[in-house]
Amino acid sequence: MPTYKNLVEDAQKALEASIMYYKGQAVGTIAARDRDALALNYDQCFVRDFVSSALVFLTTGREDIVRNFLEITLTLQSQERRMDCFKPGLGLMPASFKVELRGGGEVLIADFGEHAIARVTPIDSCLWWMILLRAYVKATGDLALANRSDFQHGMRLILRLCLETRFDMYPTLLVPDGSFMIDRRMGVYGYPLEIQALFYAALRSAEELLLPNDLDGIRTAVIERLGHLAFHMRSYYWLDMQRLSEIYHYKGEEFGISAVNKFNIYASSIPAWFINWLPDEGGYFAGNIGPGLIDFRFFTLGNLMSVITSLSTKEQSSNILTLVANRWDDLVGQMPMKICFPAVEDRDWQLFTGFDPKNVPWSYHNGGNWPVLLWFLVAAAVKTGNIQLAENAIKLTEARLGKDLFPEYYDGKNGRLIGKEARRYQTWSIAAFLLSKQLIANPEHLKLISFEEDNRAMACEF
Ligand code: GLC
Repeated sequence: MPTYKNLVEDAQKALEASIMYYKGQAVGTIAARDRDALALNYDQCFVRDFVSSALVFLTTGREDIVRNFLEITLTLQSQERRMDCFKPGLGLMPASFKVELRGGGEVLIADFGEHAIARVTPIDSCLWWMILLRAYVKATGDLALANRSDFQHGMRLILRLCLETRFDMYPTLLVPDGSFMIDRRMGVYGYPLEIQALFYAALRSAEELLLPNDLDGIRTAVIERLGHLAFHMRSYYWLDMQRLSEIYHYKGEEFGISAVNKFNIYASSIPAWFINWLPDEGGYFAGNIGPGLIDFRFFTLGNLMSVITSLSTKEQSSNILTLVANRWDDLVGQMPMKICFPAVEDRDWQLFTGFDPKNVPWSYHNGGNWPVLLWFLVAAAVKTGNIQLAENAIKLTEARLGKDLFPEYYDGKNGRLIGKEARRYQTWSIAAFLLSKQLIANPEHLKLISFEEDNRAMACEF
């Protein structure tokens, strides 16, 4: 058993060992390097996982890997407008890719969900790709890459895919179940928070990176959507004591433009756990809003990305951190940080997950604790000036992460046990630790992923 006198050094070595090569160039990192577990697709480079590694590379002089990654994933982007099924939609980015030897040469094989367990579509990949492109430009000043015509085209394909009018008229993105970090059935279809927060960040990245000539009107559409999306999220997703009281007194069946209860939420759908759990001080964004639906669960990545990207107002951001501090044992526990709270149990577990044994209560996506979420917590804490909170979270990680061989996730109400099926040497757990150390040591790095306050929220025509 290694001693981990120097956890940072060991983490650096482990990150280095996870680097994936294509034609002699470093192009990404594999998801996990666990020889004792079935590889499944953990030997591939996932777009969402790579973002954590990429931010470490951008802050440690390895920008070349990020540039290579951005270039090769762009070549994998779905480029054809098709009317048939079984093919990714125009503009989509893969969930993951691998390098295979074929006919004596190396080829890249992308997975858009057609091989993934349950065939889930990775909507977050194209959003993360734009966020990462902007981080790369911020870190290197290499605007020429984003200005290249293939990059401008790639961004436009993603934006068209997201901004196209489809079957609804919400400013949020309508997506199927399991289309982001939670890539299994978990009742996260419709308008899940994480996708909306990443959508907002991708739009803000596009606003910075799109060239000003706007012949197709995409740039104008991006700016307009940003205002509507911010208003929608800040008004309808927000939950705190005052909102609880409003919802509790909602009337149902309101018709037309003057309706206050726009989504026809019934007070009796407010779960008892929420009424007991919500502190007097603090608040957060709901996990999902739809017709007759508020998913009251706290989803960590979406809430923390809202803080980091300024999707939440300054006041809301500070309230989200207050909530984390006030509910520390539930949300952070013994390993930062819980992916969502609370777990769904009993009949809800049966209905939400389809009896999924990997997602039993307080495990994996259903209330497990994920070390990768440390960096999101540290970044949000640094942004809102909660340095002590960030340091406390890092300390918890330091005590166990290396000893436990960098697991993918932890189980239990407080994250005490290494996850039942957790991979060891999970790359984004390793990278999150390194990135968190970087962010504390040099808060300037925050600007790679954060955005300035945005007061352009525009009321929606609902
Ligand atoms: C699991 C996670 C997903 C991650 C992948 C690779 O499927 O749910 O978010 O990208 O593993 O680590």
